[in-house]
Amino acid sequence: MNFKSTIEFIKALYPNKGFISLHEPKFVGNEKKYVVETIESTFVSSVGEFVNKFEHEIASITGAKYAVAIVNGTSALHLALKCAGVQNNDLVITQSLSFIATTNAINYLGAEPVFIDVDLQTMGLCPIALQNWLLSETELKINKETGRKECIHIESQKKISAVVPMHTFGHPCVVDEIQTICETYQIPLIEDAAESIGSQYKNKHTGTFGLAGVFSFNGNKTITCGGGGAIITNDETFAKMAKHLSTQAKLPHKWEFNHDMVGYNYRMPNINAALACAQLEQLNVFIENKRELALIYNNFFEKTEDIIYKSEPIHSKSNYWLHTIQLMDLEQRNLFLTETNDNGVMTRPTWTPTHLLPMYKNAICGDLKNTIFLADRLVNISSSVRV
Ligand SMILES: Cc1ncc(COP(=O)(O)O)c(C=O)c1O
Repeated sequence: MNFKSTIEFIKALYPNKGFISLHEPKFVGNEKKYVVETIESTFVSSVGEFVNKFEHEIASITGAKYAVAIVNGTSALHLALKCAGVQNNDLVITQSLSFIATTNAINYLGAEPVFIDVDLQTMGLCPIALQNWLLSETELKINKETGRKECIHIESQKKISAVVPMHTFGHPCVVDEIQTICETYQIPLIEDAAESIGSQYKNKHTGTFGLAGVFSFNGNKTITCGGGGAIITNDETFAKMAKHLSTQAKLPHKWEFNHDMVGYNYRMPNINAALACAQLEQLNVFIENKRELALIYNNFFEKTEDIIYKSEPIHSKSNYWLHTIQLMDLEQRNLFLTETNDNGVMTRPTWTPTHLLPMYKNAICGDLKNTIFLADRLVNISSSVRV
């Protein structure tokens, strides 16, 4: 098979570009103005008006009661899991089809991942696979010290202390069903919404279904502040703890340095927040632009026999962070990757499933047939906002 017509089609979408990258940031609003303001104010670090504004804006966009600005998405995940109570030797359920940060954050706390399969349509954690695994592999037990029910993995007798689904490439997973399952099994739900700022499921923003959600504002994301992240939650105690731990657990005082816990230097600097605030002003315009591109891609790929374009799943509004196609098999995928990249159009396969990486090869896994199927076939194609 020859992918010449697809390459020509993508090139026509991004004219006047020698090389078409996968996703480039766009700084076409108040970015420079806000960054210069920050420099002139001298408040470039972890205190400043833009960090507070950013938190306010994130809460308002997502509908969450609280937002905590964090230095990047990985640290935000780490902290959210810590605040959810994940501890050494616990198990945390997640998907193997994700960026490595999802599982690394679990590992930072001394917990182990359990990989459950994804859904073929959403590419996110499959509620049926989750339910089936919990039903056959776990039991609810009362913790004698706390009097609370806990979900225990029967074979290892370890506690399942969180479920972390991921909204893959911006497409929401079936998160309401996952939330119901988590409630039944008494497991906190932490959404890895790193890729899905602006995406909604059943008219609710991703990241708001469970105890907390996490976003990334890395340079490759829909909007970026260089490096940045956020935790959102409706739980006041959780939000206070996240902010406290992100600022070295320092007790507020004009001059004394006292700390009541082991904290982290995870607060987003004000200079990054300045960039983030300017980018947030353009979030809707960027997403509309990406959604228009989704229609164009969908019309084009509908006419091709061997390529499926991954449209937003039912009941959802996707930010279409990375546009994604599904090839027939691994051979076709590799051919497509070679032809596009050799011809100046950057494309990328999905991540190597995490359970196949050396650090996690001994992790507990459910049946991961959809994960393998998709990893062999998915390719991300040009996704930058077109201006
Ligand atoms: C699914 C997922 N989780 C976590 C992260 C980590 O975010 P960051 O790069 O901001 O640390 C990313 C992106 O980079 C991601 O795609």
